[in-house]
Amino acid sequence: MKTITLALTGASGLPYGLRLLECLLRSGQRVHLVYSQAAQIVAKQELDFTLPNRPQDAEQLFAERFGKFSGELKVFGIQDWYAPMASGSNPGDAMVVCPCTMGTLGKIAGGIGEMPFSAIHLENMLKLSHAGAVIMPPNPGFYHHPQSVQDIVDFVVARILDHLGVKQTLMKKWGEE
Ligand SMILES: Cc1cc2nc3c(=O)[nH]c(=O)nc-3n(C[C@H](O)[C@H](O)[C@H](O)COP(=O)(O)O)c2cc1C
Repeated sequence: MKTITLALTGASGLPYGLRLLECLLRSGQRVHLVYSQAAQIVAKQELDFTLPNRPQDAEQLFAERFGKFSGELKVFGIQDWYAPMASGSNPGDAMVVCPCTMGTLGKIAGGIGEMPFSAIHLENMLKLSHAGAVIMPPNPGFYHHPQSVQDIVDFVVARILDHLGVKQTLMKKWGEE
């Protein structure tokens, strides 16, 4: 059983997404489903189909619509920051955005995910660096023997203050008495 995240967005073509959902569930996959508000509008427009606001209602609706299937369906709200797909730490096996709006495509292409840095993130950083921004990932040194999380936080904040030209007493500069 694979875990597939399926996102329905508000592009024309909701029948593709719903058919894909049905096929994944019938073939025994675990589907984590999420859909945008625009997808709800397009579903109504294209299929006269109401995608419910509440995830529990959607799970029940699809169970009734598809009948018996061997897969598992879990629906997540678009604002559910605790959903697995909200973090790169729990990516599942694959993600499909179907149908995909140009808006969502643009956000994906813009690199809104977290680490590890992808080529998109690195290109965005380079672009901002060329524009004058200073990119400072919080990469603390360990040569000062930090004893606590606060020491690590202070290391990074001290470097930011140094770059701003603001005098700081959080951390001695290297070689400073
Ligand atoms: C009936 C209907 C059809 C739409 N078709 C498309 C489409 O094919 N492609 C697209 O990029 N946006 C389309 N849109 C506009 C998007 O739904 C809109 O840009 C929305 O903000 C996208 O949000 P989302 O990416 O979070 O779903 C359509 C809107 C409606 C109401």
